[in-house]
Amino acid sequence: MKYQLNHSNFADFRVFEINKLPPRSWFIPFSSRAAADAADVRSKRFSSDKVICLNGDWDFKFYPIPSELPLELDTDRIAFDRMPVPGCWQFHGVDRPFYVNVRYQFPFDPPRIPAAEPVGRVFSWIGGDQGVSPRWKKPENEYNFAGLYRRFFTIGEEPRSYVISFLGVASCLDLYVNGRFVGYSEGAHNTAEFDLTPYVQPGENELVAVVRRWCSGSYLECQDMFRNNGIFRDVLLRVSEPSDLRDIDAKTERQGDAYALTLSAQAAEGTVLRFSLEGHGLSRTASAPVLNGTAAVRFEDLPVSEWNAEAPVLYDIYYETESCCVKERIGFRTVEIKGDLFLLNGKKLKLKGVNHHDTSPTNGYTMTPEEIERDLRLCKAYNIDTIRTSHYPPDPLLLELAEELGLYIVDENDLETHGTWAHRLPPSYDRISDDPKWEPRYLDRIARLYGRDKIRGNTCVIMWSLGNEAGGTCNTDAMYHWLKPKTALPIHYESIIHCARKAYDVGSEMYPAPEKVLEVGEHRRKEAPLNDRPYFLCEYAHAMGVGPGNTEAYWKIIYEHDNLMGGCVWEMVDHAVLHADGSYSYGGDHGEWEHDSNFCVDGLFYPDRKPSTGAKLIRFIYRPIRVRHLDGNRFEIFNTTAFTPGVQFSLHFSWNDGTEQTLSPAVDPLSKLVLELPLGRVTEQGRLLTVTVTDKRTGVVASVEQLCLEDAALPAPSAAPLPEGLRFANGRFCLELADGHKLTVECPSTSLWRAATDNDRDPSSRDSLRHWYGAKETLLSVKQLSNAWELRSRIVKDPLTVFEITDTYEGAPGGILVTSRLHCVRGKGFIPRFGKVFRLHKSFDQVSYRGRTGESYCDMKEQFPVDEQRCAVKDMTEPNIRPQESGNRCDCSYAVLSNGRASVRFEAVDRPFELGVKPYSDQALLKMRHREDEICTGTYVTIQAFQQGIGTGSCGPRTAPEFSYPVTEDYVLRFVIRVR
Ligand code: GAL
Repeated sequence: MKYQLNHSNFADFRVFEINKLPPRSWFIPFSSRAAADAADVRSKRFSSDKVICLNGDWDFKFYPIPSELPLELDTDRIAFDRMPVPGCWQFHGVDRPFYVNVRYQFPFDPPRIPAAEPVGRVFSWIGGDQGVSPRWKKPENEYNFAGLYRRFFTIGEEPRSYVISFLGVASCLDLYVNGRFVGYSEGAHNTAEFDLTPYVQPGENELVAVVRRWCSGSYLECQDMFRNNGIFRDVLLRVSEPSDLRDIDAKTERQGDAYALTLSAQAAEGTVLRFSLEGHGLSRTASAPVLNGTAAVRFEDLPVSEWNAEAPVLYDIYYETESCCVKERIGFRTVEIKGDLFLLNGKKLKLKGVNHHDTSPTNGYTMTPEEIERDLRLCKAYNIDTIRTSHYPPDPLLLELAEELGLYIVDENDLETHGTWAHRLPPSYDRISDDPKWEPRYLDRIARLYGRDKIRGNTCVIMWSLGNEAGGTCNTDAMYHWLKPKTALPIHYESIIHCARKAYDVGSEMYPAPEKVLEVGEHRRKEAPLNDRPYFLCEYAHAMGVGPGNTEAYWKIIYEHDNLMGGCVWEMVDHAVLHADGSYSYGGDHGEWEHDSNFCVDGLFYPDRKPSTGAKLIRFIYRPIRVRHLDGNRFEIFNTTAFTPGVQFSLHFSWNDGTEQTLSPAVDPLSKLVLELPLGRVTEQGRLLTVTVTDKRTGVVASVEQLCLEDAALPAPSAAPLPEGLRFANGRFCLELADGHKLTVECPSTSLWRAATDNDRDPSSRDSLRHWYGAKETLLSVKQLSNAWELRSRIVKDPLTVFEITDTYEGAPGGILVTSRLHCVRGKGFIPRFGKVFRLHKSFDQVSYRGRTGESYCDMKEQFPVDEQRCAVKDMTEPNIRPQESGNRCDCSYAVLSNGRASVRFEAVDRPFELGVKPYSDQALLKMRHREDEICTGTYVTIQAFQQGIGTGSCGPRTAPEFSYPVTEDYVLRFVIRVR
């Protein structure tokens, strides 16, 4: 069939939609109530008898050079390939994955977008691949390429109307049916619907869609993510009869102790609608005809149970005509702002949130219903109760499941113009958002967000978000003023903090230091609008690589101040691309001419959704019950939930002397209670209390919290002869083991640095530890004393930073007492780490120790209790997508490395040490870029006096001073080595 293709809509600034239907609620109609009742929310779009799902492999032809896309297309003459719908081209062999954070992939010249010509020269001054340094780049063979889709579909003879819904297309869509142009759409994550009735015929129909890499609207979609293309969400063909519904709405309203519910719908004039509310013993029905396009009823005095994320009570609502039935679920709840308080059902609450992107390592933006549900269930399992849908509306199923499972949603508009900041000097952050020419596009986007999700605004959606990182103000104001009269919900938009206005309904920021949050809590921020309204951390605790460190600091403050609503960790899941051999790639691995490296790998969960330490840490920080030792036998129990009484939890108190007790304290939500508990006895491990909190309703252990009331007394070794087998050849420690292997020191033997974690780097990838890597260790003297050796060394980091180290190795019963003293001769700042590094043969692949039972650093360790632990050496490091320092263990009293025949035991003296065990050296680790680079060359053990905290410097505050070690102090590390 022949088509005249449009070659201008995507680049014509006057056009952002043609013939697209106005926004409407997401709903799936059925032909009867029984059919609607039989359907499940996860599959209803696929099982409805009024919806034809057009997903599947479509014909596809890629045009890397857009001028090769013909003006006149004859589909019979095209040699099509195949492309899955939904799917992203870059994950199916077309072009390549391309990751950039704040930059556009094209020259910044809004609203101009490359059309047929090559991309040309691009200026930017910041980026992961260039640091902070202005650059012009001229990419080769880069075009605004196009993809041509084709599929056939069949319809019956009956007179019906046909509306096609595209749930997500990046970047834009020109749609044709049976040789005719139907319409055009932009707004990748917004639903685009077209009435195909005039274009279709009974029998077979041909649908053609042209999708461009970029359109003018791409200026509004500069989100930090892989920049993918394609029809990436479902395509549905809705088949309706004249009396079917066009749109539906619902509004709940609290009336004293009860609620009212207004249900309304749009259908053909005169159609009679039956509306019902059912559930939990309640049943109301009323009918109304459509007058002036709308039918509405109101149910008053509904004695409903309220919905909240902790107890998500849902009711069914039905909209029925003679030909159709739509079933939705709804919860009753209020959200209101009173002064500086954010209240849900009249109660204060603390949002324990994450940011969620739609990301699949095998399919980019495309997520299956099962994958969406898995993400939400993970949130629930990790004590997360809030999702900000960064930075666009998710598939509507995510919201429907959030209502069912119990999650609050900050529903975000598909809008970000961050590149306005990166491509110009001085940066012109407001360049688009303050240019009224763009206002219609902004209004379209917010109208489509609200239009689609308005019913969800009664239940899971607790705030609308105007977008992300787009500056302001005139177009963001326009969205605000458009939305405000339509909704009872607060309107959120973080980026306004960069404009004079500073805040809309709630104050919001990303990555402030805890001190800044405290200033808000105490109403003394110099940005006055942050002081008089609720405050939300829309992003905090950047979970890139190892971390996030020091997150608890925020929660101490959040719990102390009612105006602080909580916040959302950045972010839930790493973005990376999975390959057939099991490896992952990130920015720059695909030959991208500009990229931001692994800045997309910043989730609490790995791409396959396995939890990183960050996830376990956040699960602990977001725990529903917190326990604190006050004094003597008095303990404070803090219920951090907003709605769940303490009696719903069972608290198992177990002391290290074996005594235990289980209680369910009646502590109200967001309240504290003091309990007196019999104390366990002090044992050689000190006095430890482990509190296991179980949710009685689900049987799930919500947290394990350990309190140390008294430290273990560590033995002070007495003198004994030095063991046989100890040598100092060339001044290097070497100890013979029973099976002929040796324990040697690594070179350098003193470690003052770690291979930078992502959080040791700033957002432009500058490594704050890089000056340490060349530090030179020189042995100054070796002295043999009567029963000891004394070695003096110097480490020169740079001419201005010099350390002296004195190591003594003394005989101790059954072993060697090592004392290492670190003194800074000159220098300033902080020391990242102080430890002694030993090397063993790789056959020493088993470790047992007593200490924190998982990866821990001084500013993120309470998530793991101190206990005995045994594992393989290879499991002591974490599988970060980009290898980096990992796997540290705090508070260790001993560690044993063994190969089954011989073993080496390190024992803490004076105070516990931090333990690092890796199957490769830190020097080798510095060069690794991917998991596959982690090749075992031995067993490397680092016994440390300290390692600085992790912080969140990749995007946020660096390691806090209280978790840093100044050079001005002298440090001593003591431990005993015993071999067997
Ligand atoms: C924020 C942004 C996110 C992400 C994050 C860093 O500024 O809103 O989209 O880029 O930083 O990972």
